[in-house]
Amino acid sequence: MLRRLTAAAALLAAALTATPAAAADTPLRDLAEARGIYLGTAVTAGKLTGGYADVAGAQFGSVTPGNEMKWGSVEPTRGAYDWAGADRVVAFAEAHGQQVRGHTLVWHSQLPSWVSDGTWTADQLRTVMTDHIAAEAGRYKGRVDHWDVVNEPLNEDGTLRQSVFGATLGESYIADAFRAARAADPAAKLYLNDYSTDAIGAKSDGMYNLVKRLLAQGVPVDGVGFQAHLILGQVPASLEANLRRFADLGVDVAITELDIRMPLPATAEKLDRQKADYAAVLRACLAVTRCAGVTVWGFTDSDSWIPDFFPGEGAATPYDENLNPKPAHAGIAGTLAPVTPPAPGVCSVTYAVSSQWTGGFTAQVTLRNTGTAALAGWTVRWTQPAGQRVTQAWNATVTQTGAEVTATPLPYNTTLPPGGTVSFGFNGAWTGTNPPPAALTCT
Ligand code: XIL
Repeated sequence: MLRRLTAAAALLAAALTATPAAAADTPLRDLAEARGIYLGTAVTAGKLTGGYADVAGAQFGSVTPGNEMKWGSVEPTRGAYDWAGADRVVAFAEAHGQQVRGHTLVWHSQLPSWVSDGTWTADQLRTVMTDHIAAEAGRYKGRVDHWDVVNEPLNEDGTLRQSVFGATLGESYIADAFRAARAADPAAKLYLNDYSTDAIGAKSDGMYNLVKRLLAQGVPVDGVGFQAHLILGQVPASLEANLRRFADLGVDVAITELDIRMPLPATAEKLDRQKADYAAVLRACLAVTRCAGVTVWGFTDSDSWIPDFFPGEGAATPYDENLNPKPAHAGIAGTLAPVTPPAPGVCSVTYAVSSQWTGGFTAQVTLRNTGTAALAGWTVRWTQPAGQRVTQAWNATVTQTGAEVTATPLPYNTTLPPGGTVSFGFNGAWTGTNPPPAALTCT
């Protein structure tokens, strides 16, 4: 388990070390950390050597075993455990200072037939389930940061899936699973995880109400995971609002299995669209304070489940089959790039009267980011020395108190990239003379 830097300390470190030119080479995990989230990937234990291991270890701050912690992998027959694959992923994470996302303790799929096909009384199945959780979460106690305790509990309409657990135990199995996980590993953050809950809709409404009920019963749910197995061009418009409404219930949220699939073959145009889609998902997480991080479901197209499960589709991850970064990688890096608050000396500003008539004038003000980091907001101030009054402004919010005028951005021109400019204008009233500003500053 990795103790996280505070976001502020990490941001400071990144701001000091990363110029925009260097930001392209800064590992994604460091960019993410500096913005207060983790960037993770699913991995396959058997592939953790050579270039695959190098990229996984260098670029990602969290790993999720793609299959190695599933019930069918660790307890294929009752009470007989095989921890080899899971151990390998956890050891890799510890060797690379990474967090571990445990996936998953209770799920209807990749579940051994001795569980799914057994004939159980409610008490027997509950014991089978809690024994499994105690064994697995207990083995990795203190070494798993986030556990997907229950995976995919819901139907598409938001009702409880009638898996062997749901059918035999009803909704109570979820509460029991979380309590067993908390008892086995009190430090791990415990998550409910599902797919097709990314947008606001029937299924995510079902999840929302389920989480509310669990919290009301005092069930130790720490977070909700959104798998985000997305289709090119279909990042839900409501993703951010959806994450936020769950966060407002008092739980963390995370994107846990992000991939963005496209019909094959991939073209430059599709890969560009995918870049924008990855950026949009990262932005949604960054915008929600309680979003802990984003995990991609495989970082390379050679290790993605998509071609096997969605015939004719693929190219869903940020690296190609030869471990070369795709445009999506730049989309992630660009979205995670450091945003530093403006400091003195990072901008310049010009003021010009473009037309003037009796009693009135129009002025244009242009602000340029002369620093090396994006400005995440700006303020221009000036003094009207001869009693001029601002009467109307555009492309900025301009307010005047006495002789002091302050201009601040509108939502669409708040961020200013290095070298970028913003122009805004205003109409003013004047009498006597209309001299230029006595003082003109930007921050
Ligand atoms: C997938 C794995 O990536 C594949 O290797 C495996 O064959 C099937 O499962 N939702 C989940 C993941 O929660 O566990 C699934 O992983 C993908 C869908």
